This record gives sequence, C-alpha cells and structure tokens, in this order.
Amino acid sequence: MNAIEFESSKLGSKEHWDSVYARELASFREIGDEGEIWFGEESMYKMVQWTAEHVPYSDDPTILEIGSGNGTLLFTLHEEEHYSPKQLCGIDYSSDAVELAKSIALQRGAQEIIFNTCDFLMQDPPPISQEHQSSRRIDSWDLLLDKGTYDAIALGEKDELGRPPVFQYPSRVGRLLKPGGFFLITSCNFTEEELKTNFATQDSGLIYHSSIKYPTFTFGGQNGAKYSSVAFQKIIQ
Ligand SMILES: C[S@@+](CC[C@H](N)C(=O)[O-])C[C@H]1O[C@@H](n2cnc3c(N)ncnc32)[C@H](O)[C@@H]1O
Repeated sequence: MNAIEFESSKLGSKEHWDSVYARELASFREIGDEGEIWFGEESMYKMVQWTAEHVPYSDDPTILEIGSGNGTLLFTLHEEEHYSPKQLCGIDYSSDAVELAKSIALQRGAQEIIFNTCDFLMQDPPPISQEHQSSRRIDSWDLLLDKGTYDAIALGEKDELGRPPVFQYPSRVGRLLKPGGFFLITSCNFTEEELKTNFATQDSGLIYHSSIKYPTFTFGGQNGAKYSSVAFQKIIQ
C-alpha cells in the first residue's frame, strides 16, 4: 500500500456524509446548533492566520473551500479577517451540507458567501462573478482550501481500474488555481511528507510552499503531530 492508499471505509462514502448533514441540518433547525468544527478550532484558526498572511484580504482574492461542510472556515475568514463574502465559495457534494451552510450564512448575515452542491472530483465549481464567468477561465482561484475533505475522499472505494479515488485530486486542484495561486490543506490521515509527495507533482503543477506548525508528541520513539497543514503554490510558467 503506498502513501495515498487506504482501506475504504464508510467515511469515504457520500451516503455517510448525506446522513451526517441530514442530522446536522435537522439539529440546526431544531436548536440552532451549527454542528462540528472538523479538527477543532486550533487548526481552523491556524488556516485562517496562514491565509491572512499569504493571501491578504486587501488583494480581494477568490477563495474556494473544497468540501465546505457547515461553512465555518469561510464564515471565520469573512467575520474575523474581512474577506469579501462575494469572493468566498464553498462546495460540497452533500446537498444537506450546502443547505446547512446557507442557513447558517443567513443567520450570520453572510448570505453573500456562495455555497453550491458540487462533486469536486466530477464537476467544476460554478463561476462566482460575472467577470469570472466572462473570462471563461477555469484556473481562476487565488486560494483553494481543504480541511478534512482529501482525508474523506481517500477512504472511498477504488474505481474499476483499482485506482484510489484521490488519484485525480491533485491535478484537479492545479487545474482550478491561477498561476501563482495557493492550495492549503489540513489532514489528519496524511503526514506532511506524504502530502508533499502526493501534491507536489508534475501533473498537478504545484510546488511546496510552506507548512503550519503544530505541537508535536512522541509515541513509540516517533515524533509526530496530530494534524498536518501544508501549503502548495501553482507554478507560474
Ligand atoms: C471531514 S468533512 C470536513 C468538512 C469541512 N471542511 C470542515 O472542516 O468542517 C469532509 C467534507 O467533504 C465533503 N466531501 C467529500 N467528498 C467530496 C467530494 N468529492 N466533493 C465535494 N465534497 C466532498 C463531505 O460531504 C464533507 O462535508
């Protein structure tokens, strides 16, 4: 088994996420609970800080979160770091996740953030502005974010050729980014080295840029951190 192969599990299936978000949507409607912050607040705030430092809001960047769930990461970028809501977009293949994020956005007064149902592996995200649409460019995003989605996809079923579902993920990232644009990913299943191996490839057109530091622990003589957050940049040709 190489670095990008895992045994499949229900966490990699759409049915699993549909049932998670059907429950979370019902709970939001019933008691106003916004649901889980995946990997907790620390990793989310670290991603927000990294973004503020490297892709400042003053440049009015276009930002896409892949597998945006309840949308908390995008709400935080807007509410705490002043990113324009019109430039923020979340996609998720679970329509109840999108419904949940839209409902929370309405309650938070952030309804200009765009949330769309979209399978990242199969479809391109919709353009977020007229300018975006008229340019007809697919590679129009300044920053792509992933918190837990690559991990989930890696647990999906292999295709008929025996390929793990994540095999096409890095090239799809490269395809959507502007030259010089960034991809920031946080994972709990892949180490920093594995992420570098999987994403910094000729096919994706991405190169390693930087990583976020987390407290480390030692177990069985090995040093490690609970999460890996790594940033890549699309090569300017
Ligand atoms: C671990 S959750 C993380 C959610 C969110 N990023 C967060 O931090 O709270 C993984 C998310 O990826 C979504 N997802 C999985 N595969 C996807 C795909 N192929 N296209 C779009 N979304 C996907 C799931 O529906 C789920 O919302």
